[in-house]
Formats: sequence, C-alpha cells, structure tokens
Amino acid sequence: MRAPWGRMQGIRPNKPLYRWLDAGLSLTEALGKMQDTYGVSTTKLALLRQVAEHEYPLLTSLPPRAVSIYVGIPFCPSRCLYCSFPSHSLRELGQERQRFVSALLHEIAVVGGYLQQYEFSVDTVYVGGGTPTALAASDLACILRALQRELPRPWREFTVEAGRPETLTEEHLAVLTKAGVERISINPQTRQQKTLELIGRHHSYQDIEAAVARSRDQFSTLNMDLILGLPGEGLAEMQASVEWVQNLRPENITLHMFSPKRASRFTGEQNDWQEMLPSAELATHMVEATSESLRQAGYDPYYLYRQRNILGGQENVGWTLPGHACRYNTLMISERQHILGLGGGAVSKFINNDGTLVSQTNARDVRVYIKRVEQHIASKMKLLAERSE
Ligand SMILES: C[S@@+](CC[C@H](N)C(=O)[O-])C[C@H]1O[C@@H](n2cnc3c(N)ncnc32)[C@H](O)[C@@H]1O
Ligand code: SF4
Repeated sequence: MRAPWGRMQGIRPNKPLYRWLDAGLSLTEALGKMQDTYGVSTTKLALLRQVAEHEYPLLTSLPPRAVSIYVGIPFCPSRCLYCSFPSHSLRELGQERQRFVSALLHEIAVVGGYLQQYEFSVDTVYVGGGTPTALAASDLACILRALQRELPRPWREFTVEAGRPETLTEEHLAVLTKAGVERISINPQTRQQKTLELIGRHHSYQDIEAAVARSRDQFSTLNMDLILGLPGEGLAEMQASVEWVQNLRPENITLHMFSPKRASRFTGEQNDWQEMLPSAELATHMVEATSESLRQAGYDPYYLYRQRNILGGQENVGWTLPGHACRYNTLMISERQHILGLGGGAVSKFINNDGTLVSQTNARDVRVYIKRVEQHIASKMKLLAERSE
C-alpha cells in the first residue's frame, strides 16, 4: 500500500508547507513542493490545503509579545490501555492531589507575576492532562481563580478538558461556568461498550450522553475525541461511533488514529493485543469513511498532526463546525508562539528568532514535580527572558 504521507517522517506535515509559504510561494506552489519532495498523496494534499487555509492567516497575524498557557493536571480516574500521557490513576497517587494543587498555585503565581511585570499578553489558556475534572471541584475552582487573578488578561480562548464523563459533576460544571470557561472536551473515544471496558474507561456511552446533556448549553464549544482503529473494532463499529457523535452535534470532533505508544500498557502487553488492530488498508478505509461522513455533516478539518507509530501512516485531525476552531490547538502544533506549560508533565516551547525551538518539560511524576517546582519555574523564566529582550 502507498504511504499516504509519502516519505514524510515528521509528525507535523504543515511545518515544511508553512516554511514555503513564508518564502513567498503560493499555497498551490507550496503543495506542489510537498508532492515533489515527499510524495504526499493527493488526498492528503487536499486535506493540508483546507487546514492551511484556516491556519496560515492565523499564524501570520499573531499578537506581539504574546504567550499561550498550558496547565497539566496529571490525574485520571483510571489509566487507559493506550495512554502515554503524564497522568496517575487516582487510586495510585490520588493522595498527592492536595500537595500538587499547592505547587501548581505557586507556579501560576510566579509565572503570572513575571508575565505582568514584563508586559506579556496571554493569547490562549488550555487546562488539560490527565483529567482536570478528576480534581475536587473546590481545588479546580482555586486553580481557575488563580489563572484569572495572576495572568495578564484578556485571553482569546479559555478551554478545560473534562475528558472522562464520570468526573463532570454538577459542582464541577458550576465551577467551570463561573470561571468563564468557554470550551470543554468530553471524550467518548468509542460508542462500543465492549471496547470501553477493554481500554479501561469505566463509563458507558450513556454516561457520555448524560454529560453532554448536562453541559450543552453552558459552553460555546464542546469538543469530543474519538479514536479510530481501537483494538477489536472494524469499520462497522467505528462508523457507528462517528455517526453517534455527529448526531450529538458537538462543535468540534477530534479524530485520532490509534497509535501504539511505548510508555502505554498496550505496548507492554503487545503480544496479546497486536492482532486485534486493523491492517493499514482498513485504517485507510476508516479515515476515508469518517472524513466523508464529517464533511457531509458540515464539519471542516482545521488542524492535524501525526504520531510516530500511527496505524496506516495516517494522522489525527481536528474537525470543526464553522467558527469554532480551537486556536490553542493550532498554536500548539504549529510552534510559532511561546507556550508556557505549568503543572505535571507540562511541556513549554520557546521560539528562537530563527524559528527553531527550545523546550522544557516539567517532571511527569507528580511527586518529583512537587519537589522540583522552583527549578521548573526558574528554567522557564530564563528561557523566556533570553528570547524576549
Ligand atoms: C491528551 S489525550 C487526553 C484527553 C483525556 N484525558 C481523555 O483521554 O479523555 C487527548 C486524546 O488523545 C487520544 N489518544 C490518547 N492516546 C492515544 C493513542 N495511543 N492513540 C490514539 N489516540 C490517543 C484520545 O482520543 C484522547 O482523548
Ligand atoms: S483519561 Fe486521557 S490522560 Fe487519562 S489515562 Fe485515559 S487517555 Fe490518559
């Protein structure tokens, strides 16, 4: 089977494309270069064109001296089979939540003070993880209040992930709306009960429907994540999940293609699971079928990225109804604005004048993060200061 992205190894196909646009090529010329240089397929060139038409104008009109903020909350109700993100199950390290919150409040206060003093603005704020709503509602309220109090304002976007529906209680919802959160994510991954159990998510698709119903009117944008090619699923199961999500009409749907990660439980148990994954051909059919279905339902692709071992050499794509694209997602993938990562396992990215990048990562283990928070703050401030004289 022909590789959909040809010889392209990178996980951000839009990077070389935008460099050619920066050099003055038209979009058609730059896409032609993608084809000649990497052998990218015509289907993926059409996808790239749509994404670039959304992203490039945004990236060429970024506000000066602006940063975006990512806050990592490294706790989840349980650990999913495929997960490699910095997160601990509540059963394993839930007792560290209080100390984590104190360390994070300190990090927010110091970084916020620095941004105020040196007159930076904050473009977008994204609270992810992990599962931010796995914290007690009162702790989440403290964190959101601290962000509003300490960071320069106004922001263009404020997002909080509520990935696992069982964590989104009425109390959490009230905290989010009171803090002025505009966008949330509730992530089903699949509608299939059998798969949900297999991947270790202790919720049902009805729990997702109930969480969506509870929150629907309170936020301008709801995002829902799905994974294509989960172990044991074929085209029919996956299509049923996509149609079900489409009918719930979230403003954003993010379609991930399954990607075995080194640090996940899946890879540790690979012998058992490998044969339950779709072939590259089936993965391609899945992407084609779901993309068509989303287009028909009025969604457009607005950002994309790839993973190293992604099934069928495909990609992950964020789809949006008109006017709801997530600005933070574009900023984070395109690496053209400084991103300050606060909290457990959060990654900061600093952009050099020549467009290259330096990153800094907070400790993934929450106990180490708590111990090293001062070091994490100091290295971030130094890296930012060096790039903004
Ligand atoms: C940063 S994760 C965290 C979101 C949230 N904690 C959750 O799981 O509901 C964002 C999304 O990446 C996707 N994802 C995570 N691990 C994956 C994997 N190994 N392969 C494909 N997609 C994955 C899932 O759809 C997940 O919702
Ligand atoms: S809920 Fe998300 S972050 Fe948490 S274990 Fe599952 S995939 Fe990982």
